[in-house]
Amino acid sequence: MTGLEGRVAIATAAGSGIGRATALCLARGGAAVACVDIKPEAAETTRRDIAEAGGKALALPCDVQEGPQVAAMVERVLQAWGRIDILVNGVGGGQRAASILDISEEAWERMLRFNLTTTFLCCKAVLPAMLRQGYGRIVNIASIAGRSMSTFQGAHYTAAKAGVLGLTRHLARDVAGRGITVNAVAPGPIETERVLSSFTPEERERVLGKSPMGRLGTPEEVAAAVAFLASAEAAFVSGATLDVNGTMLMM
Ligand SMILES: NC(=O)c1ccc[n+]([C@@H]2O[C@H](COP(=O)([O-])OP(=O)(O)OC[C@H]3O[C@@H](n4cnc5c(N)ncnc54)[C@H](O)[C@@H]3O)[C@@H](O)[C@H]2O)c1
Repeated sequence: MTGLEGRVAIATAAGSGIGRATALCLARGGAAVACVDIKPEAAETTRRDIAEAGGKALALPCDVQEGPQVAAMVERVLQAWGRIDILVNGVGGGQRAASILDISEEAWERMLRFNLTTTFLCCKAVLPAMLRQGYGRIVNIASIAGRSMSTFQGAHYTAAKAGVLGLTRHLARDVAGRGITVNAVAPGPIETERVLSSFTPEERERVLGKSPMGRLGTPEEVAAAVAFLASAEAAFVSGATLDVNGTMLMM
């Protein structure tokens, strides 16, 4: 038993990077995984890879910034598998801004919607099923930026990810005693295609220079932390933030 066996999971951003590694990791642990991504082909690739490895998965294209699409996606999972045990909120990402003076009101609102509102919408959509079941595991992907501040992204990313941590704590207490836990994982810089392609060689050197382990983390290392918090065994861990940053920031 892995604490994931027979569970039903929703992983958002499952088409690439941390979300994809998470979907694969949960499936390896024995969960049926709804692979949610705005890019249908990316969701389908992850689904196929899980199925080819003998796991159970659905590909669900969905823009999790849109409440009605989130509601339809959750309904589809309930129709297929009858319950939702695990939600991993992976959608998000930053945008560069040297100063708050460079951030327009529209960019600020887009950033909050992309990182924080998406998390709120998905949590709210799965909660009725989790409350009915008396069981649930929610894991929100935050960032080292939300714990301190971002190195390259703007203040709007830092604020949005700090918001994810606040939402995590508040919701954890709201549902305490109902069999549902809510936690966050806060990765440091992780080697995803998006991150690698966004760094100039000098920036990569700067990040590596700041990393006491002399390297970036891997999506699989983040996924392993998510899988622990998503497991049945982590029942008494709630409202917590698990740092996955190779000692870059310790608090
Ligand atoms: N990569 C890092 O270094 C790092 C560090 C700290 C935190 N994070 C956080 O981890 C999460 C994943 O980051 P990543 O680097 O793996 O991302 P990524 O860009 O590699 O993957 C994101 C996936 O989300 C999908 N997506 C985008 N918008 C969507 C939407 N509206 N609805 C559904 N799917 C959507 C994309 O199609 C893509 O497949 C983000 O929340 C990010 O802020 C990443």
